Amino acid sequence: MTYYYRLGTIPHKRHTQFRASNGSLYHEELMGIRGFTGIQSLLYHLYPPTQVYKVFLEQTIALEFEDVGALRHRHLRTQKALSEGDAIASRIPLMANGEVCISVAQPTEPMSYWYRFAHGDEVIFIHEGSGLLESQYGELHYHPGDYLVIPTGVIWRILPDSSTAQRMLVIEAQGHIEPPARYLNRYGQFLEHAPYSERDLRPPETLTPHDEMGEFEVRVKARDRITTYLYHHHPLDVAGWDGYLYPYAFNIADFEPVTGRIHQPPPVHQTFEAPGFVICSFVPRLFDYHPLAIPAPYNHSNVDSDEVLYYVEGNFMSRKGIERSSMTVHPNGIPHGPHPGMYEGSIGKERTDELAVMIDTFRPLKLTRQAVELEDMQYPYSWAA
Ligand SMILES: [Fe+2]
Repeated sequence: MTYYYRLGTIPHKRHTQFRASNGSLYHEELMGIRGFTGIQSLLYHLYPPTQVYKVFLEQTIALEFEDVGALRHRHLRTQKALSEGDAIASRIPLMANGEVCISVAQPTEPMSYWYRFAHGDEVIFIHEGSGLLESQYGELHYHPGDYLVIPTGVIWRILPDSSTAQRMLVIEAQGHIEPPARYLNRYGQFLEHAPYSERDLRPPETLTPHDEMGEFEVRVKARDRITTYLYHHHPLDVAGWDGYLYPYAFNIADFEPVTGRIHQPPPVHQTFEAPGFVICSFVPRLFDYHPLAIPAPYNHSNVDSDEVLYYVEGNFMSRKGIERSSMTVHPNGIPHGPHPGMYEGSIGKERTDELAVMIDTFRPLKLTRQAVELEDMQYPYSWAA
């Protein structure tokens, strides 16, 4: 759920004649979710978005999962995961279930084609690097700390700034990624207690309708394959749009932490919800202020969740041996908590500078073969005395 926004030129009345200065009609397209009952936007194209002239199979996609071994805590050193290519080709899938796939990527090139994920929304968390996310909805510059939320159906590409190294955490949902419903009132407006508000969401900044003819390639990922669609006109030919559905950026630094007199549970860090999982942001904050408070988290067993933490910056207070871009996975039912010494050691501390993204899934995740190559095999024993 986002708020109403408009960019470019649109007619006063929906579904009426809307003409360019040369007299030609713009071609209206409604892009919406949940079968005309969810959020939607109306776009006005220079050319019909239907005019594909060639369709072919680009590649099939099959995640290769690890052989079943002992169920254990996992620590993946994703700094070791080197990749190259564009923002799609450089993705390394690390874990997945039927509802979400989590990858890391280090794009080294701009995308030469446009892309769409047809099963659900994507969140791309920008750990390092800046660049441009361009789509039919316009141009949106990204920076470190941005969550780029891209609804399914949006045709986009990423053009990284060549001067900055790129590192991304990619979350593909089989459904829609939205702010938690409890943050919104019945009108869809963010409530006062929500940790962020409409002003923190950045829609596309500018809209440039591209009136160009040639050969333009749109790759669509769906049903375990990527299909290529060729068009004679530029796919980003939109002169104007309005509605509630559009890609946007939300920077993790704009997440206002909720703190308390005693330790607050992870749901206070929740940033997005999606079918089968949540995304939370752990940001620099003041610690608990009860005189006898223990700031480090208590040991916990989330018996029906798999907990994935991606460590972004700072000194993660409760874990030893964790490095930047580390990813830990605590599968269901295994108690975990602060490492030895961290629980007592946190007493009296006033603040943390930790920055981390958490993904909690409600169904078991399977790790890929690529993930196992990054694994710290000693991690399950790191709590032992
Ligand atoms: Fe946990």
